[in-house]
Amino acid sequence: MTAIDHHREYESAAAAAAHLAEAGFGDAVAAIQTGSGIPIPELDGVTTLAWREIPGFPEATAPGHAGALHHGRVHGVPVIVMQGRLHGYEGHAPVDIVRPVRALGLLGVRNLLLTNAAGGVREGWGAGTVVRVRDHINLMGFDPLRGTHDPRFGDRFPVTAGRAHDAGLAALADAAAVRLGIVLKVGVYGGVTGPSFETPAEVARMRLYGIDVVGMSTVPEILAANQLGMRSLVLSLVANPAGVVAEGATAEDEVLEVAGRTGRAVMQILEAVIEGLPR
Ligand code: HPA
Repeated sequence: MTAIDHHREYESAAAAAAHLAEAGFGDAVAAIQTGSGIPIPELDGVTTLAWREIPGFPEATAPGHAGALHHGRVHGVPVIVMQGRLHGYEGHAPVDIVRPVRALGLLGVRNLLLTNAAGGVREGWGAGTVVRVRDHINLMGFDPLRGTHDPRFGDRFPVTAGRAHDAGLAALADAAAVRLGIVLKVGVYGGVTGPSFETPAEVARMRLYGIDVVGMSTVPEILAANQLGMRSLVLSLVANPAGVVAEGATAEDEVLEVAGRTGRAVMQILEAVIEGLPR
């Protein structure tokens, strides 16, 4: 097996970053990634690129993932909104999943605000629960940084403790939720590859691990951002109690329905976080 080549990955991510700089996206202070069906924030002066226009951005195929990159202002702050993401369950390689985040990091974006739809593992965390992820457990069986090391991305062995989920952004989110009157829970995200939902035994095991919400995304992006020294914040929106889907609904329908209905609360918190970022 040939080793995964992060030197070549650097060239790809840098080419994407150069394309974004050319399109005028280079001043963004933060990037938001929207999870399944979660609406994008209100943006002033928006420019939109389709993913396929950007070199090295593979096509997103998951439901609720439009695959567009927007640039605009939130409270006057230039931001990029990555609408859509790539998932392991679509068959994308780990390096492909993280290439967009790496491109944003190389472009100079310092704050990464990620959202996702998740299953509620903690008892009582049902559909519509909004959770700030304070830490994660990687159950995906891979680390996207595995392969030859390119120091231009950062350390060979990046430290995650105290870094991968930024305390300053967390404080901004918690304060914003209080101001907005949105109940924001705090918990641990378990990242799985999917696409199969968890069995009852797996959900029970996750509770023993201290996992509060489970989802099929986000962990690769966090690890890549952390290596690049980007600050990150993750908000999860519970779409269903883990492994359980209402009778007559498909899991997909349920995720998109809940995200469409309560996703705005998640975005309101992120808009307030952006307003509070140091200029
Ligand atoms: N499990 C994993 N991922 C998910 C779920 C779930 O129950 N709901 C939404 N994404």
